[in-house]
Amino acid sequence: MPAVPDESIVSGALPAEAVGGPGAPLVELRHVSKRFGQGAVGAVDVSLGFQAGRMVALFGPSGSGKTTVLHMLGLLLPPDEGEIWLDGRRVDGLAERASAAVRRQSLGFVFQSFGLVPLLTAEENVMVALRLLNIGGDRAREKARAALEIVDLGRRAGHRPAEMSGGEQQRVALARALVHSPKVLMADEPTGELDTATGAYVLDLLRRTARNGAAVVLATHDPAALEVVDTAYFMRDGTVHEPDRAELELWLTEGEGGLAGA
Ligand SMILES: Nc1ncnc2c1ncn2[C@@H]1O[C@H](COP(=O)(O)OP(=O)(O)OP(=O)(O)O)[C@@H](O)[C@H]1O
Ligand SMILES: [Mg+2]
Repeated sequence: MPAVPDESIVSGALPAEAVGGPGAPLVELRHVSKRFGQGAVGAVDVSLGFQAGRMVALFGPSGSGKTTVLHMLGLLLPPDEGEIWLDGRRVDGLAERASAAVRRQSLGFVFQSFGLVPLLTAEENVMVALRLLNIGGDRAREKARAALEIVDLGRRAGHRPAEMSGGEQQRVALARALVHSPKVLMADEPTGELDTATGAYVLDLLRRTARNGAAVVLATHDPAALEVVDTAYFMRDGTVHEPDRAELELWLTEGEGGLAGA
């Protein structure tokens, strides 16, 4: 049974970069907590900073709070306590209009359940993100085509989600999240439904997105992700830890059974 990676609790301790200056995080959670009804815990005093150009993974068992953290970071879920900062500006507690503007301009999100519109083609699904930015017509179509080429789906532009495999739908969702060149890209289980080769392709794409200057944050159970991220965190019961890599690898490859009851 693999040991539980639980060293170096980072929850509650602000990262050194949080004070600003070179290497300051582009987006940051400061002492953020979220509780749901009936005792469900999403996050407990989580402080995490994400830098431009870096790729970070949140690992952890089902129900540990990974999606909750991504949704708060994506301004899709307000924290009960704590602050969220993007690019030197506090962005939690904004009115819905203002927070929607931040989301559509600066953030990209790939959801655990792709979130594609069934009646729209792949190209139209990608164009939705541009329409929200008032980009339409030929320019939008060109950008959408280019984003679909990046995920290697140019030839599927006219297909609807139901006419595509799970992996293809996931890549359309990725194209939609990337088409407006977001500063922060959040991806929830981006390789969960994919075969090894497609998963490797998607991870490489995320890696390149980070190299191009975005802060990339993924929630994942995929051991292959450990190889490509700059930082790997481990969540448990809403708290974030920075485990020893070898321990995390063991936990990932031996499966979550080892954590039952831990
Ligand atoms: N909208 C909600 N209402 C009530 N409880 C919720 C809600 N969303 C999440 N939770 C609870 O909060 C906890 C954290 O959930 P979360 O979805 O963040 O976990 P996760 O780490 O993403 O899990 P998985 O690996 O299964 O995706 C769980 O106990 C979950 O049941
Ligand atoms: Mg989740």
